[in-house]
Amino acid sequence: MDQTCAMRIAVTGGSGKLGRTVVRVLREAGHEVVTLDAAGERGDGFVRVDLTDYGQTLDALLGVDGQDGFDAVVHLAAIPAPGMTSNVATFSNNMQATYNVFAAAIRAGIRNVVYASSETVLGLPFDVPPPYIPVDEEYPARPESTYSLVKHLEEQMAIELVRWHPDLKIVALRFSNVMDEEDYAQFPSWDADARARKWNLWGYIDARDGAQAVLRALELESVGFDRFIIAAADTVSDRPNAELLAAVFPDVPVTREVGEHDTLLSIDKARRILDYSPKHSWRD
Ligand SMILES: NC(=O)c1ccc[n+]([C@@H]2O[C@H](COP(=O)([O-])OP(=O)(O)OC[C@H]3O[C@@H](n4cnc5c(N)ncnc54)[C@H](O)[C@@H]3O)[C@@H](O)[C@H]2O)c1
Repeated sequence: MDQTCAMRIAVTGGSGKLGRTVVRVLREAGHEVVTLDAAGERGDGFVRVDLTDYGQTLDALLGVDGQDGFDAVVHLAAIPAPGMTSNVATFSNNMQATYNVFAAAIRAGIRNVVYASSETVLGLPFDVPPPYIPVDEEYPARPESTYSLVKHLEEQMAIELVRWHPDLKIVALRFSNVMDEEDYAQFPSWDADARARKWNLWGYIDARDGAQAVLRALELESVGFDRFIIAAADTVSDRPNAELLAAVFPDVPVTREVGEHDTLLSIDKARRILDYSPKHSWRD
């Protein structure tokens, strides 16, 4: 189908921090959006679903009472960081939910799947330094937590599923740390200590730009699996990159010139293939 036409899109985790903005941006782009989430307010376009339950997940993706099914799924639902629950609870919730969403989407005939992977697979918190800077999608994943291990396993699962279903597209968006506008007030406080935000190479993503990346990935006309780092165009810091890197990662090769505050999480691939173009910076 022409993926620039209005689509009916299920957004799992649509009640969450990133999900709320994704739902708004997809609706503003003319798409019909239904949130599938365990949490949320009764109302238009919300269906309460426990995504660890395959029956509920498949039922919801086929369209509950009187609703149509979906053209696309955006899967954001997860426990969204390491250390929020026990490791096994993070593993069980996130792995099972993602298997259920991918498998149910396929059963429901949906061939356009975009989901939240994470910058953590790049080796965060970089206690072991990255192989080179800017980091990109070209080196093998280095998960350092159970949360990140699941994000890595989900990417591996997606690779096999698109092999089984050659007409299926799954796009993994490796989001950086998601920020809303009100989060920007705290950014200057991090500058006193160069190491304060070394754990993700001083990266972040404005939720509105994260939503833009979701929209671009949904519109991408392709099949198979691909992965993209999605970050803001700049760092969280007013200190120049050269100073931060000399203080924290003096021995890591810097493979190309980076501007004073350019992101060290490369978004070159997303710019090139998705036409992703971040519009929001904390500096504004
Ligand atoms: N927040 C970040 O900095 C960040 C960074 C990189 C990637 N991500 C990923 O982006 C996605 C969204 O993150 P967020 O910050 O908006 O998280 P969030 O916690 O604000 O929202 C997640 C939503 O998922 C729902 N959910 C979780 N498990 C569920 C289940 N089993 N069934 C139904 N609903 C379930 C929750 O109710 C919640 O509304 C996640 O996949 C997260 O791993 C987040």
